[in-house]
Amino acid sequence: MNRSDQPIEALLDEERLFPPPEECSRSANIADPDIYQRAAKDPEAYWAQAAESLEWMRKWDRVLDWNPPIAQWFVGGKLNVSVNCLDRHVRGWRRNKAAFIWEGEPGEERVLTFADLYREVNRFANAMKRLGVQKGDRVTIYMPMIPELPIALLACARIGAPHSVVFGGFSAESLRDRINDAQSKLVITADGSYRRGQIVPLKRNVDAALKDCPCVEKVVMVRRIGDAAPVAVDETRDVWWHRAVENVPAWCEPEPMDSEDPLFILYTSGTTAKPKGILHTTGGYILGASLTHKWVFDAKEEDVYWCSADIGWVTGHSYIVYGPLANGTTGVLYEGSPDWPDKDRWWAMVAKYGVNVFYTAPTAIRAVMKWGESYPAKHDLSTLRLLGSVGEPINPEAWMWYHEKIGQGRCPIVDTWWQTETGSIMISPLPGLTTTKPGSATFPLPGIDADVVDEAGNSVPLGGGGYLVLKSPWPSMARTIYGDPKRYEETYWQRFGKNVYFAGDGCKRDEEGYFWLLGRVDDVMNISGHRLSTMEVESALVDHQEVAEAAVIGKKDDIKGEAIAAFVTLKEGAEGNAGKVDELKKHVVRKIGPIARPQSVYFTAELPKTRSGKIMRRLLRDIAEGRALGDTTTLADATVVAKLKSQYEEG
Ligand code: PRX
Repeated sequence: MNRSDQPIEALLDEERLFPPPEECSRSANIADPDIYQRAAKDPEAYWAQAAESLEWMRKWDRVLDWNPPIAQWFVGGKLNVSVNCLDRHVRGWRRNKAAFIWEGEPGEERVLTFADLYREVNRFANAMKRLGVQKGDRVTIYMPMIPELPIALLACARIGAPHSVVFGGFSAESLRDRINDAQSKLVITADGSYRRGQIVPLKRNVDAALKDCPCVEKVVMVRRIGDAAPVAVDETRDVWWHRAVENVPAWCEPEPMDSEDPLFILYTSGTTAKPKGILHTTGGYILGASLTHKWVFDAKEEDVYWCSADIGWVTGHSYIVYGPLANGTTGVLYEGSPDWPDKDRWWAMVAKYGVNVFYTAPTAIRAVMKWGESYPAKHDLSTLRLLGSVGEPINPEAWMWYHEKIGQGRCPIVDTWWQTETGSIMISPLPGLTTTKPGSATFPLPGIDADVVDEAGNSVPLGGGGYLVLKSPWPSMARTIYGDPKRYEETYWQRFGKNVYFAGDGCKRDEEGYFWLLGRVDDVMNISGHRLSTMEVESALVDHQEVAEAAVIGKKDDIKGEAIAAFVTLKEGAEGNAGKVDELKKHVVRKIGPIARPQSVYFTAELPKTRSGKIMRRLLRDIAEGRALGDTTTLADATVVAKLKSQYEEG
């Protein structure tokens, strides 16, 4: 929980209020406050009306079939997401409007108009067909943030092949597990990518992963790096992107997709070691992504919009690719890191492209804050009119800094709460309507039935805290966990009954009904806005031959929100020294990827456990964060934590 600068009671007394700037209210896409009531009164009519903004090949017969927890939206409707993102813009005047302004980390620039993107998507869609990909086949995408990445997603959507994007920072083993779980037929990658001037060898990771992926028939590789990243080419399996699109027809008939046909799978961490393949479908998802992009970011025709996330996460899916393109918005796409070649890279880009709307994560804001205000101050940020935050609770101090130093006191901030599973933003201010408070995501969007409940599932009165739940279905909700419908029901739809979606987050509401998100209530960590399960990291650690047992916690961290602290028991005869710490960190990176690298590793002869053998992570967190120990009465052996605490304090 990243509330380090204030206790929660102080948060609820937050008195700083930021009403929408007059100019924003006057011109906002949503300026009528009655929208909330209208949506609540007749949700189906509300969503049906919203869905009219999409282009359907066949109109739906029914808005919703709800057999809890199975929802079907716009039943009988047919559409294609790539048509909604491209064809309808290309037919009209947006044809030559920029869809993406791309900048590579070394500094190259490329502008793709909607017509360019349309052409590339059609060609690559045909190339995939030629490689044997058919409607329903899964395609794994493991790529850097280059234009071919959104092209690949949209081409998959065009031919009805669900994509599964794996973030380029994941290891070969993580990639292998995700490919096998999805049973992908095709993998799309690049020879490598740039990260802080270094080359990340993506294709090499793919080769390592594919040693154990019999389902994969073909690999397409983009030549991003060239000679500096030589790749081994398996002539029967691997094909260069530029060769694959040679001599293919310029037009690919878009597959008429059922509203409930899968659009993509995206893996995210749960409470077990095995990531969950969250499945999103077509009609409801594209409605959620496009509508929220339009309203929350108040998307205007002339906007230059920049979401700094990676397309490997859900934020990039919904708010770099699908939402903005469906709305015909010009988006910035940036390959690299914010501090390369210097710590003002982002602000130089905001000034260069005249960015109007900027969406990033609290962890990035805190890093920028630490680097100092001189970096943004060097650049003209006067084009910015709206700022967004996502991924973890934003502490009021970071919120104020973002507001003052980046938004120059002028730009409303939308703190957006949502999840991979929700598909689109659920709780957020509407910039023309909502008076914001630093650190609060404010209110559920129209049509979103969020509540805070106690252990028994009863709604908690204003002023109290509990579990965040969503009590009615919404169009962009996940439909299942790929290949494991039982886990889907158990994880989300059982805790408070099968009608109620359990988000896994703690939440308080103040007397005015503002929502204050408090972080996860399960064993999921939030490291720099990325979800990781304690179990995932623990099983990576115990995979090391000298580790007997491991317990992992997310320890409060000023920049990352949470950082990984690991408590490790070694096997008889193994020695816990500095070299071993290093080795274990590397082992976790090899197993999962750099995002899972533990910040600290502590060796202990024993771990604190309850009498039934459950590791008490809460006590480990107390120790790691230097607090007095909480209740220890349920411990099997109280001396274990006492020893650990004194050992920890000695450093
Ligand atoms: O704990 C919440 C936190 O991120 C989790 C979802 O992670 P993921 O599926 O990776 O999606 C991240 C981007 C949508 C949530 O359960 N979270 C996300 N946004 C916020 C947040 N916590 C507080 N405030 C937010 N604005």
